[in-house]
Amino acid sequence: MKALVLAGGSGSRLRPITHTFAKQLVPVANKPILFYGLEALRDAGITDVGMVVGDTAPMIEAAVGDGSGFGLNVTYIRQAQPLGLAHAVLIAREYLGDDDFVMYLGDNFIIGGITPLVEEFRAGRPDAQIMLTRVADPRQFGVAELDQTGEVARLEEKPRQPKSDLALVGVYMFTAGVHEAVRHLTPSWRGELEITEAIQRLIDDGRKVRSTVVTGYWKDTGNVTDMLEVNRMVLESLEPRVQGTVDDATELIGRVAIEGGAEVRSSRIVGPAVIGEGTRVSGSYVGPFTSVAQECAITDSEIEYSILLRGASISGVRRIEASLIGHDVEVTRSPRVPEAHRLILGDNSKVQITP
Ligand code: TTP
Repeated sequence: MKALVLAGGSGSRLRPITHTFAKQLVPVANKPILFYGLEALRDAGITDVGMVVGDTAPMIEAAVGDGSGFGLNVTYIRQAQPLGLAHAVLIAREYLGDDDFVMYLGDNFIIGGITPLVEEFRAGRPDAQIMLTRVADPRQFGVAELDQTGEVARLEEKPRQPKSDLALVGVYMFTAGVHEAVRHLTPSWRGELEITEAIQRLIDDGRKVRSTVVTGYWKDTGNVTDMLEVNRMVLESLEPRVQGTVDDATELIGRVAIEGGAEVRSSRIVGPAVIGEGTRVSGSYVGPFTSVAQECAITDSEIEYSILLRGASISGVRRIEASLIGHDVEVTRSPRVPEAHRLILGDNSKVQITP
């Protein structure tokens, strides 16, 4: 069995971060979200991974390499444009051959991994196996409608008027039968080849499509709110450790990880929180569910429930919450006079300012 990991896409919901960065590499507890998926595949006994990449290919390749660091054998498949999940399957046809495969969306997070699902699929080998979960706003997802017997009757991609609240989770399993269904697809109203339409075809052709409704199992990290929530969940089981320097005037409370080369002075860090390599924190409060990446600086500030990417700095700011702060971003206090906000923001930035 192989895996097809989708690590391309346009990432429009995570702009401006995705103007310059692959969303699958945004770190959660200081590890790229994509790595959790790769580890889950390896733990499920899969070694051959086809990685679909787009414009951010060089970044993904630099981070994952040939996959040997994960115990995987990774082959890159270049997708010239993000033309849909089924398009990714189409261009991977040769790589996949006639093997069964797991299709895994590289920005998705599956709590507890996928081993039981892969085992279930291997035992029954339906033509397709999908997972469904109840969501508050199904309009953003592929949505399934079940018949009276609980079998999938219809699938619809991002419906304007959803017929149920059952969304497709970003892990799908297929036998080679899916290729025939994919080959006949035409672009949807949003110009993409939809995997939901391919699965619908399998259903219409009387093929076996198994679905399982799961709870509390999955997050799509395509937007900031869910990214912060996954960060929270992962930090909950953080291994506390101090590898960097912490002075006597600092208080560490709860699950806190201070990575090597980090320096914390006169601060209060309330876990779960991680402070990355080479980061300096002084005179600050870092609150629960915060991941600070490498080479950041937090000075005379307060921050919690946030993710800082490499090289970000915050100085004299109280208080930052529920934020995703990009590489080398500087957030500073403005001089007293004139009392004004001074902003240099990239395209599609989002800023909320308290009066
Ligand atoms: P999505 O999050 O559905 O799509 P997107 O990346 O275009 O994001 P947005 O909706 O914010 O614009 O994609 C799910 C995963 O699949 C993600 O890791 C990107 C990847 N993907 C591809 O590799 N190729 C594609 O053609 C598409 C649509 C997605």
